[in-house]
Amino acid sequence: MVPRSVESLTPAWPSLPPLAHAFAAQLLAWLLTACIQILLGGATGWYWTMGQGLLAALVGRMFGLPWWWAPINALFAPAVIVAQVVRLDSWWYFGAFAVLLAVYWTTFRTRVPLYLSSSEACDRLAALLPAERAFKFLDIGSGVGTVLANLAPRFPAGRFTGLEIAPLPFLTSWLRGNWSHRFETRCADFWEEDLSAYDVVYAFLSPVPMTDLWRKAKREMRPGSVFVSNTFRVDGETPDSVIPLGGGRRSLYVWRL
Ligand SMILES: C[S@@+](CC[C@H](N)C(=O)[O-])C[C@H]1O[C@@H](n2cnc3c(N)ncnc32)[C@H](O)[C@@H]1O
Repeated sequence: MVPRSVESLTPAWPSLPPLAHAFAAQLLAWLLTACIQILLGGATGWYWTMGQGLLAALVGRMFGLPWWWAPINALFAPAVIVAQVVRLDSWWYFGAFAVLLAVYWTTFRTRVPLYLSSSEACDRLAALLPAERAFKFLDIGSGVGTVLANLAPRFPAGRFTGLEIAPLPFLTSWLRGNWSHRFETRCADFWEEDLSAYDVVYAFLSPVPMTDLWRKAKREMRPGSVFVSNTFRVDGETPDSVIPLGGGRRSLYVWRL
């Protein structure tokens, strides 16, 4: 089963990114709020800003944005007002932007943000790996190295590699693994990696790249190797096994090539 936030993605304009939908929602909410204010004879007050936010959240949902955009849309206008009142030094904004950029990097293009595999997912993955035999494991989009740091110490015969494109998660993973020689993380784009070198490839990405990634896996991975996707299925491709996680709210999908 796929989480609701993913199932319910039916964007109003499928060719446009979520940011464009959010922008349209904000604009429409501003226009509606301004019209109501004019109709009421130019009424003003902080509650109008809150109202605009709530309206933007509602319109965003109607435009097909996932639920987690609702608080972002609702708090955007109030945050702009607060920022003007508080008058923070502009370096704070630059700092916040720099940190977000280092964490999320090209998420606006890849549509794969950072979130981490649970320890339960790591335990279920561990059950799929050979206990004695040597093998090569790849985490594509390895984030801060959560899966690699969990699995590498348990499998001395395994060789664990992660590829991460965003600088701050990469650096964190590199510090966790490369220094201690427990696992290797490279700052690289997984689309450039030849998957034929690996026995197990693990992906926890988003619905967006899954079809292309499956084509790549079929093209490059060796017969007998294993492809595992956390949460996100491949449309039209029945997995060889489905391992429920979180009481059945998510799953690991396992394909044997
Ligand atoms: C959902 S996180 C998963 C992190 C980790 N695998 C885990 O399970 O905890 C996905 C990660 O993939 C990274 N990513 C997205 N596209 C990528 C690409 N083309 N090459 C390398 N990493 C990518 C993102 O920066 C993000 O950190």
